[in-house]
Amino acid sequence: MSLTAVKRQRSLGGTARKPLVPKGWGLFLFGRFIRRGDYIMEGKFYVTTPIYYPSSRLHIGHAYTTTVADALARWHRFLGKDVFFLTGSDEHGQKIQRTAAERGITPKEYVDDVVESFKELWQALNIQYDDFIRTTDARHHRAVQEVFRRIYNNGDIYKSKYEGLYCVPCETFWLETKLQDGNCPDCGRPVELVEEESYFFRMSKYADRLLQHIEEHPEFIQPETRRSEMVNFIKGGLDDLCVTRSTFDWGVPVPIDEGHVIYVWFDAVTNYLTAAGFPDERAKLKQWWPADVHLVGKEIMRFHTIIWPIILMALGEELPKTVFGHGWLLFDSDKMSKSKGNVIDPHELIGEMGEDPIRYFLLREVSFGQDGNFSRRALIERTNADLANDLGNLLHRTLSMLGKYYQGVIPEPTGTLESVDLELQQLAETTCHRTVELLDRLKINEATAGIWRLVARANKYVDECAPWTLAKGDETKERLATVMYNLMEVQRITTLLIKSLIPRTSERIWQQLGIDVPIAGMTFHDTAWGGLKPGTQTQKGEPLFPRMELEEPDETAEVSSPAGTKPDENAVKPDEKADAGTEDRLDGVVGIEDFAKLELVIAEIKAAGSVKNADKLLKIQVDVGGEERQIVAGIAEHYQPEDLIGRRIVVVKNLKPVKLRGEWSEGMLLAATSTDGSLELVSVSDSIAPGSPVK
Ligand code: MSP
Repeated sequence: MSLTAVKRQRSLGGTARKPLVPKGWGLFLFGRFIRRGDYIMEGKFYVTTPIYYPSSRLHIGHAYTTTVADALARWHRFLGKDVFFLTGSDEHGQKIQRTAAERGITPKEYVDDVVESFKELWQALNIQYDDFIRTTDARHHRAVQEVFRRIYNNGDIYKSKYEGLYCVPCETFWLETKLQDGNCPDCGRPVELVEEESYFFRMSKYADRLLQHIEEHPEFIQPETRRSEMVNFIKGGLDDLCVTRSTFDWGVPVPIDEGHVIYVWFDAVTNYLTAAGFPDERAKLKQWWPADVHLVGKEIMRFHTIIWPIILMALGEELPKTVFGHGWLLFDSDKMSKSKGNVIDPHELIGEMGEDPIRYFLLREVSFGQDGNFSRRALIERTNADLANDLGNLLHRTLSMLGKYYQGVIPEPTGTLESVDLELQQLAETTCHRTVELLDRLKINEATAGIWRLVARANKYVDECAPWTLAKGDETKERLATVMYNLMEVQRITTLLIKSLIPRTSERIWQQLGIDVPIAGMTFHDTAWGGLKPGTQTQKGEPLFPRMELEEPDETAEVSSPAGTKPDENAVKPDEKADAGTEDRLDGVVGIEDFAKLELVIAEIKAAGSVKNADKLLKIQVDVGGEERQIVAGIAEHYQPEDLIGRRIVVVKNLKPVKLRGEWSEGMLLAATSTDGSLELVSVSDSIAPGSPVK
């Protein structure tokens, strides 16, 4: 249900929503006064994925739609609605029959095996569907035959003869005029000539009604670009559709004519109705139908926004509220496919890094609706930056401080609130409401990015409030308690917001926060500021995400810089300079904006020691302002480890971490070298605190 629809219903006196917080509680958002309860709705949310062909194993592209559907389903449960999340398998058709025959097994034996692998993948990705429909289910045969029978009885299905072209891999009929170089315009493969007696569905009769529906319901086809494509397609004229085949038998038998099976797409789209209880379970159907969102890939929009609604119109059933056509996940800008050999096996990735980095990447990286690129590098970079650094590090560093200052117990926030505190609270509140709005409009990646802006703000709040300084004086003890409370509370709220996106991670954070009520039972209502109970005993655990290496660095390479780090892999190579428009610049000159990219801070050396099998290297532990880091540097010939302790030096804090001789180096220290080869660390006096910026 869109928010606008909700508002309208409310003003008409509808009872669809149940405010869960006292009236009057809320904030101004986009110039409007919003109460938390305004978003919490009773009612239902029915979301579907396409049902996947078991003609091959699923790849990361299929995981994309299913992950988005799962996140939406979880989110709507969190909002307090009844949710029905459906996925499944599309098991009939000529392609499956041929594939099984090539393997010398029956189609049923073949699909049973592949469908098991679908379920295993969804389990590994922590997909929590409510129903898995197989088009070979008896309930589905019953539904498809009933749909066919009713439409036939209405006179909208008639018998004739089909002579034309057919693409078996896409299970699609084509007119010769639509072919590209004589091949299927969707997949580029050859089409076959089909000549058989068939039943036809009078699609043409419904074209005007469908156009009117699209016009009156702008939310029906999303995003907008796809709506115009579909409208143009319909305006180009709709032919009656051949809805039966008789040259093979792997399908739902036509109820009125033995020897024919129902066309696989007519069969497939009906799954959404079968699972909702059509035709026998009227109460169930009333509860769930129409579907709220069908999520589909852009290439199957025609089936979902033209054929499917016309079937429903002919049946006299309501149309789904929204069909959203998302883009493709590309691999090196090419569509993933088995024939191209660029298919990414999600099982391997999940085995390597767990499901949440993959879920996060899919939800965050790709602008929902457009094509997006998948690469191992991008996945690792996202994981390191957003999950290990921003989210994981915030938890780790704040729990460390809490352990040090309060034995891990959440303090009472007794101090006066300062503007920086109010700003943090306000952003937490706005983020909650904005997430509801954005997810309601299916702006998945924007909603995710918004939550991470709150995480970034919380990290900045640590640096601004510098709890380590507050911990030093008695007169700042009250302030320390307030700051630490705010930090833990903002993380409690963030954890609730991400519980639909990366559920396992949110459970792990919840456990470390020590909250004794399970996160599973929490709803959006619980995101109100102040829900964290002082006195809660936190449980600091392992870091959430270990930083991942992009490639195995060459550990035996000579370490040439004092920092011991390697040249930045992303550095612009000489032949890229022209592209960057730097030809006419002076060599070696950088702009202030280049310098500003480096985060230089003061760090205090806490410990230092040698690195195994590396005579020139020392590893040092530094405090960069409430956060401990390890840096590996080529300074062993110039300093004894014990001479370094307590020194305050300058480090580059935002350098990409690398592993050197088996040790992580998470930053770089600055040192000066003179012509005689001597080296001295750039240092400051004790009056400058660790974490202070160097500009
Ligand atoms: N069986 C039909 C759907 C019937 S729905 C009533 C089908 N199956 S499919 O297995 O070929 O594709 C299922 C979905 O996966 C489609 O929505 C398709 O767009 C999506 N994807 C397949 N590869 C993909 C990517 N590389 N990226 C994103 N989605 C991808 O079509």
